[in-house]
Amino acid sequence: MTKGLFLSFEGIDGSGKSTQARRLADALEARGHAVVLTREPGGSPGAEEIRALVLQGAPDRWSAETELLLFTAARRDHLERTIRPALAAGRVVICDRFADSTRMYQGLSRGDLRGKVDALHDLMIGIEPDLTLLIDMDPRAALARAKARATAEERFEDFGLGLQERMRAGFLALAREFAPRFAVIDGNRDAACVAADVLDAVGARLA
Ligand code: ADP
Ligand code: TYD
Repeated sequence: MTKGLFLSFEGIDGSGKSTQARRLADALEARGHAVVLTREPGGSPGAEEIRALVLQGAPDRWSAETELLLFTAARRDHLERTIRPALAAGRVVICDRFADSTRMYQGLSRGDLRGKVDALHDLMIGIEPDLTLLIDMDPRAALARAKARATAEERFEDFGLGLQERMRAGFLALAREFAPRFAVIDGNRDAACVAADVLDAVGARLA
């Protein structure tokens, strides 16, 4: 059976994940790869509906536990309907955030829920990307970028700078924990420089 390549982008809000995911998709398509560019929460019609529930409204709208269940439900639908079929067809799947975001945001933001996050992941998802590109960046600069966008999806950005600082440290710790599948990229540069490093890291896996 042909199998595609599963890539994820991770990092704090405003670090440039969506920009880099788009650029990578364009670069790989130009080289003749069949690419599926997708995102979480979302990436399938049902999961996009859950997205609105978790990203809009007041920061205390959901407890961390309820949020964990909602994000996992969205991911399961995304996996069944978008990711698995694309990988089975041999495509390159580029996902803007995946389970590492749950390990960070639901696992760390309000108490230590990492054990529950991992248990639910094993039970309901059970797949990791082949390569995770962590766009590492200073939270103050990233938050300024994110806030400049001004969308309705600001529930997590409204948790503020303190959360972003902890998420940055948490993502770097995760990159050490799962070192073989992580590439850490300095996001505090011109988008073209970041994209070149991303393409280098991905090229090594495609070869
Ligand atoms: P994320 O998906 O991580 O939240 P985005 O890709 O949406 O980040 O980028 C957040 C904002 O910063 C966007 O307005 C985007 O145009 C801008 N941006 C992205 N990358 C860079 C960069 N390397 N330098 C300056 N601005 C950037
Ligand atoms: P996203 O649209 O990627 O936001 P941004 O472009 O600002 O990085 O994701 C929206 C928010 O959802 C982000 O603040 C992180 C949060 N999130 C979780 O809390 N858990 C998850 O499992 C995922 C995928 C995202």
